[in-house]
Amino acid sequence: MITVNRIGKHIGAEIKGVDLTQPLSDETFEQIAKAFFDNEVVFFRNQKITPEQQVNFTKRFGILEQHVRKESRLPGHPEILVVSNLLNEQGKAIGAQDAGRFWHSDLSYKKEPSLLSALYAVEVPVKDGKVLGDTNFTSTTAAYDALPEAMKQRLQGLKNVHSYRYYREKNIRAQKEEQARGVRTVQEHVLTEEQLNSVPDVEAPIVRTHPVTKRKSLFINEAHTSAIVGLPRAEGDALRDEICRHTIKPEFQYRHSWQAGDLLLWDNCSALHKANFDYDLPLRRLMYRTTVRGSVAV
Ligand SMILES: [Fe+2]
Repeated sequence: MITVNRIGKHIGAEIKGVDLTQPLSDETFEQIAKAFFDNEVVFFRNQKITPEQQVNFTKRFGILEQHVRKESRLPGHPEILVVSNLLNEQGKAIGAQDAGRFWHSDLSYKKEPSLLSALYAVEVPVKDGKVLGDTNFTSTTAAYDALPEAMKQRLQGLKNVHSYRYYREKNIRAQKEEQARGVRTVQEHVLTEEQLNSVPDVEAPIVRTHPVTKRKSLFINEAHTSAIVGLPRAEGDALRDEICRHTIKPEFQYRHSWQAGDLLLWDNCSALHKANFDYDLPLRRLMYRTTVRGSVAV
């Protein structure tokens, strides 16, 4: 018997009564899937799952992606992206260290952007009894619903460009600025041209319809949106920034404080997320991410 406890006003729920090390019946899985799409973010506490169990559970939602950052995949499990601040013996990052600096949805820059991501917390940083490294989520369906009618009309039919190259350049600039200020040092992999070329820019509607719930949401974000199609640069940037500011208003958000053993799923069609870098080594953070392929945004 599973129970679903909603936490945020618009987004976020805890699912209890599930042991993900055990086989799940189709009926239980359907209940979980319904809770997931209803709540946009759901999590299970105290799960002791292996990478293989995470892969097997999440692929019931669809095809798993293998991230373009090959060097950050978990050895032996190419569907798992390691998200971590840990370094190997050579001092290199073992995974994506900087994932989620800006508000985004995962793989929104792909022709078939992600349906959902699942993040499993292996180790979480704790300082003086307080867990650090929370993740913020915001509901882009609730944000869309709350827009004034005139803005809904303005956005209807407009497209935006989602660009992984734009994101990488923005991220590297932010890292350099932080390093110059002495805030935080990150030794990030530099992607090759071949890797960047494998994810060309895509155009997607700003207002998209969820493939499952059919709700409308805002599919635009500060990390990946490099331009608004058909608008001059300054006007496009201003519109993007205005929509992005609206989307992350506190009332649309849920902030997750992690515990080791959490498996949390978020909907990449109806939610954005952002990391909080309020920890650093020797505080350790190790997470495993799986990402399910979605369909072309319409
Ligand atoms: Fe992400």
